[in-house]
Parts: sequence; C-alpha cells; structure tokens
Amino acid sequence: MINPVILSGGSGTRLWPLSRKSYPKQFVPLIGDESLFQASARRLSGNGFAPPLVLTNDAFRFVVIEQLAQLNMVPQGTLIEPEGRNTAPAILSAALWLQKTAPGSLMLIAPSDHVVPDAAAFHEAVEIGRIAAEAGKIVTFGISPKHPETGYGYLELAEAPSETINPIDLVRFVEKPDSARAEQMVASGKHLWNAGIFLGSSTTIIAAFQKHAPDLMDPVERAINDADEDLSFTRLATAPWSEVRNVSIDYAVMEKSDNLVVVPFSAGWSDLGGWDAVLREMGPDDRGVATSGNATALDCTNTLLRSEDDRVELVGIGLDNIIAVATPDAVLVADASRAQDVKQAVDALREKG
Ligand code: GDD
Ligand code: MG
Repeated sequence: MINPVILSGGSGTRLWPLSRKSYPKQFVPLIGDESLFQASARRLSGNGFAPPLVLTNDAFRFVVIEQLAQLNMVPQGTLIEPEGRNTAPAILSAALWLQKTAPGSLMLIAPSDHVVPDAAAFHEAVEIGRIAAEAGKIVTFGISPKHPETGYGYLELAEAPSETINPIDLVRFVEKPDSARAEQMVASGKHLWNAGIFLGSSTTIIAAFQKHAPDLMDPVERAINDADEDLSFTRLATAPWSEVRNVSIDYAVMEKSDNLVVVPFSAGWSDLGGWDAVLREMGPDDRGVATSGNATALDCTNTLLRSEDDRVELVGIGLDNIIAVATPDAVLVADASRAQDVKQAVDALREKG
C-alpha cells in the first residue's frame, strides 16, 4: 500500500481575495466543483492507496475532515503542526508517524494545491517509480519546463528526458535558481521542473534526514513522541516544535541527496501559483477569456472575470489582459502580467491591519 501524505499548511496569498489566511486556496473550489485539496485526495486514492495522512494546522483541522467526508474518505491520521515550519519538518513528522503505524511503508508526499487533470496517467507514473522507491530511492516527478521559472526546483538528468518505463537517475537537484541559471537549465534540454511530489519509504526518508538534516531529528522526534492525541487529531508537541528549523524539504534534503531518481510526467501539471495560471487552467475560450459565477465578458480578450458572490454581477467591456475577482468583501482588478504582485498587495494590506 502507498500512504498518501498531503501537505496542506500553506496560505497561498497570490490568489487573494479568494484565498484567505483563514481559508487558503487549497480549500477553495478554484477549478470545477471540488477544492484542490479534495482533488488531491481523490487523485491519491483507489487501488493500492491507503487513506491519506494529512498535515495541517489547528485552524484547518475541521475543514480537512469535512472536505474528506464529502468524498466519503476518512484520513488515517491528521497531524497538527503548532506552527508552520515549512515542508521539511512536516514531512519528517509524517515519516516518523508512519514508522510507528506502518514501518517501512511507502509514502507519496504531495502538495494540496496543484492541478493534475489526468489521474490515471499520474497513477502510471507512480507505478513506474514504485520499484525504485521500494529499492531505497527517493522518486521525484519531472515536468517539461515551459519557461525559466525561478520559483521551482530543477531536476538535472543523466540523459535527455524521454517517456521511459524506468526512472532516470538524477545528477543534481537545484532548488529555486536565479534567472540566469534557470535560463541555462531550460536551454540545456536536460532539466525538468520538480513537481514537488516525492515517493519513498518512510525508512529511506528518515535516513535522508539523519544524513542531511540531523538537527531536525531530535526536536521533531520529541514533537511526535510527546504528541497529544485529541479525538482523531495528533497535535505535535509545542515545546520541541518551537526548536525546529524552518526549512523546505527541497533545501534540507533533496539538494543534498545522492539517491534521487526521476519519472518524467507529461500528462499535465500546474502549480496554481497565481491568477494567470488559474485563467489557463479554467479553459479560456479562443479569445483567452474565462468567466465564473455572475460574470459577463463583452468584447474582451485574455481576461479572467470571477464573481464569487451571488449578489455581485461582474461585467467587463472591451478589456484586454485583465484579471478581476469579486468576493463579498474585496475586489481585485489587476493587469494580468502583474498577477504575481498580488502577494505584495496582500503584504501591504496586512501592514495596514
Ligand atoms: N503542513 C504544511 N506545513 N504544509 C506546508 C507547509 C507547512 O509548514 N509549508 C508549505 N506547505 C505545503 C503547501 O501548502 C504546498 O501544498 C506544499 O507544502 C509545497 O509548499 P510551497 O511553499 O508551495 O513550495 P514551493 O511551491 O515554493 O516549492 C515546491 O513546489 C514546487 C512545485 O510547485 C518545491 O518542491 C519546488 O522544488 C517545486 O518546483
Ligand atoms: Mg507551491
């Protein structure tokens, strides 16, 4: 059985005003009727998958349970982090938790905020990676790069990527390069984007932390061993957790590991990193326009109009390259090329209080 480990603690500020601190993007139906979290849980279910282990924080614990219940799913565990410490400590606690309940079993670590439309193709990729994972490798999933993105990790392959039935050895993992290096890597033809999904056994993952991030071992182990079991929730102990370094799995482990392999994945993947990506994934018409809710576009091009409030009619006329999102208490109107700057706007609003 493969244990899905779903990371669901991020806040997704670039998708404001739909994504809020109190209700972040992974729990909102951004594409279709299900939330991204629900779509992830569903994608990681079925034959060969155990129920998911979810990592989240106190504020979202009931949202997690409710959204899974809507899919008739009950998680095998819900780990509550006292505070977000990024993905490395979260993943290590999941591995230590599984090591107690299902020692040595496979864990498929996945974010909760991605779009992967073809679940069957994804299952095939996981199946290709499974044997390598059982043999002690950490399997990554590689996406053909579309542009020199600096917000992703890059996987350097020993050979040019092809659709294979075997995972390819990794020469190097480079997390979030500067733009010059990202351009070189895209041009080389030997690099793929890291999808942010990892498959490995709990034993392999723990050994990788022991080797590459040994400072995390003791406090995270104590946080798990002293955890408070509260109904179906496992609350990690606050005191040891406060000693835990804030670091992502990519920097703490993946960049340093020498036992990584990659399975190329070409069936469609998007990290919904901003409204421009949402527009692409909503399936815009041939003029590049997508609307949702009470929204109407007249004579627009390359424009996203969303009204998330039944009482608000949103109408765009003659717009080009615009993103407009209306919610009950906030409206965003932005040039589509500035979609990434929404994060700065949210920071400014927070400062204003
Ligand atoms: N439980 C929990 N706790 N989840 C977290 C935490 C935390 O402290 N921090 C982040 N997450 C969740 C996010 O909600 C997201 O689902 C996932 O972990 C990945 O975190 P991000 O913060 O979105 O990472 P990233 O996008 O900067 O980079 C990662 O993903 C890229 C692809 O989308 C890296 O793995 C990159 O290498 C990769 O290319
Ligand atoms: Mg991300």
